[in-house]
Amino acid sequence: MSGRIPQAFLDELLARTDIVEVIDARVPLKKAGKDYQACCPFHSEKTPSFTVSPAKQFYHCFGCGAHGNAISFLMEYDRLPFPDAVEELARLAGMEVPREAGRQSNDDGIEPLYRVHELAAEAYRETLRKSPAAIEYLRGRGLSGEIARDFGIGHAPPGWSFLIDRLGRDPVLRTALVQAGLVVEKPGGRLHDRFRDRIMFPIRDRRGRVVAFGGRVLGEGTPKYLNSPETPIFHKGRLLYGLYEARQAHRRLERVIVVEGYMDVVALAQHGIRNAVATLGTSTTTEQVEQLFRVTDEIVFCFDGDAAGRAAAWRAAENALPAMRAPKQARFLFLPEGEDPDSRVRTVGREGFLEDLADAIPFSEFFFRHLREDADLDTAEGRARLAARARPLLDRLPEGPFRELMEAELAELTRLQPRPGRRRAQTIRQTPQPTHTTPVREAIRLLLHHPFLARDLSHPPPRDERLPGLPLLAELVDFIAESPHLPTTGAILEHFREHPAGQALWKLAERPPKVPEGGELTEFLGFLDLIERELEARHLQDRLAALSARPPSALTPEETEELRRLLACQVNIRER
Ligand code: UTP
Ligand code: MN
Repeated sequence: MSGRIPQAFLDELLARTDIVEVIDARVPLKKAGKDYQACCPFHSEKTPSFTVSPAKQFYHCFGCGAHGNAISFLMEYDRLPFPDAVEELARLAGMEVPREAGRQSNDDGIEPLYRVHELAAEAYRETLRKSPAAIEYLRGRGLSGEIARDFGIGHAPPGWSFLIDRLGRDPVLRTALVQAGLVVEKPGGRLHDRFRDRIMFPIRDRRGRVVAFGGRVLGEGTPKYLNSPETPIFHKGRLLYGLYEARQAHRRLERVIVVEGYMDVVALAQHGIRNAVATLGTSTTTEQVEQLFRVTDEIVFCFDGDAAGRAAAWRAAENALPAMRAPKQARFLFLPEGEDPDSRVRTVGREGFLEDLADAIPFSEFFFRHLREDADLDTAEGRARLAARARPLLDRLPEGPFRELMEAELAELTRLQPRPGRRRAQTIRQTPQPTHTTPVREAIRLLLHHPFLARDLSHPPPRDERLPGLPLLAELVDFIAESPHLPTTGAILEHFREHPAGQALWKLAERPPKVPEGGELTEFLGFLDLIERELEARHLQDRLAALSARPPSALTPEETEELRRLLACQVNIRER
């Protein structure tokens, strides 16, 4: 099932897919003119700004900028990797996904790895049912059978060869057991179970597949928790324990609570708070924050009130910076010293914990409070120190209103002006709303949204590299003109996904052109005209540079005349 998916198949698949059907099955759409609308599933809003165009096979949210085709919708909404989104669409269209040869051997190892985790999880659950001591332990921690079932909690029995005895006869599974780290190979070649007599927490990826385990001793003992090693399907910094379960419990997650322990997640769920996730013994990564912000607008980081908890919170804050983009927000909740979410919710109950959550402090407050701790703002030295520490951090924030407000706050605290000049460099790097554009960019944008324009041209624009983007525009025109059926916006984006300019196209697609209906061709030809004139000017400049670089004696009489005309023309341009 591995190997590259041929581009021709993707083109065909999108031609046969109706994006309206795909989205409507997940987010009910209402007809609005030629398009369909709904409240955006990617950010929370009360009035619909999410639009789906059947003609363009493209969706776009005017609120948060989310946009794309049927494949990217499934990737974002169902949280599917690209090949799985394609598989899903193919299934709906009744098509078989062909694969190109290559990279086969590498991927073959993955499937048994998933299978062996699933089988192990099942075996551990079965063991738990027959293990009074383990059941007693979980009861003692206040967990019901229902919660244990929802989280797939199990028990690894004492002994050394449980999994090998159960699954190891099949050579493929045997290899997978070792690769998964569920079975450890001793120097003499002997194999034994990694997890022995532990409560087993299966760690699921966002599709619900078990990809690792965390195992806790029953009672005292070290290490308290033992985790699966990193494997091709398990990367600690990319997964969050409980996220799959939280998404199962809520169609839409208004907020997500990030805690430190498996038991915290499970205990909160036991009290009806089913929107908690845990990092896996490491600090929260930017990738994890980005992942959460794709499914929720608010994260509440919940830490112990002690020094270790504060340090961990600060690391989380630093790593969250690049993901802090309005309307997404983060807050911090510090529990009383010695408490963790598990003990806290058991003391104060569900309502009490929800009150704690309501008091969580905003990101900005935690950020400046932390940085001010050792900077005396009554002195210039202290304010300089604060500015010096805060600025490189604020530079990691994406461009936008949140960053501006944070900068304004820093300016107020330090009584310094926000830095001029730096904004420009940032704008070039991020370009959420390009202030500067070119005829080439605008022509591409128009063409992306109105592909028929390519078919009204007598000849494609030249692939002249002197104007950035012009070869891409030419390539787009060729692709559209030569496709057997007129490709839609969504299909074009798909076709160019892997193209070096794919990212740039994707960005251009975000802002549909504002051209009155029927005026597209005039507008498009206008841009092409500007492009031609610009090329002509470039040509004259080049010619002028070439001729004037040579000694006058080396020029033919015609060249001398040409140079004279070029110089006159340049004076003309200057004077205009
Ligand atoms: P804690 O020690 O805070 O665990 O570790 P906890 O969730 O409160 O556990 P209980 O309540 O004593 O059962 C938090 C997280 O750190 C990782 C685990 O991911 C754990 O959930 N950890 C902790 C380890 O990986 N190994 C350890 O030995 C301890
Ligand atoms: Mn605990």
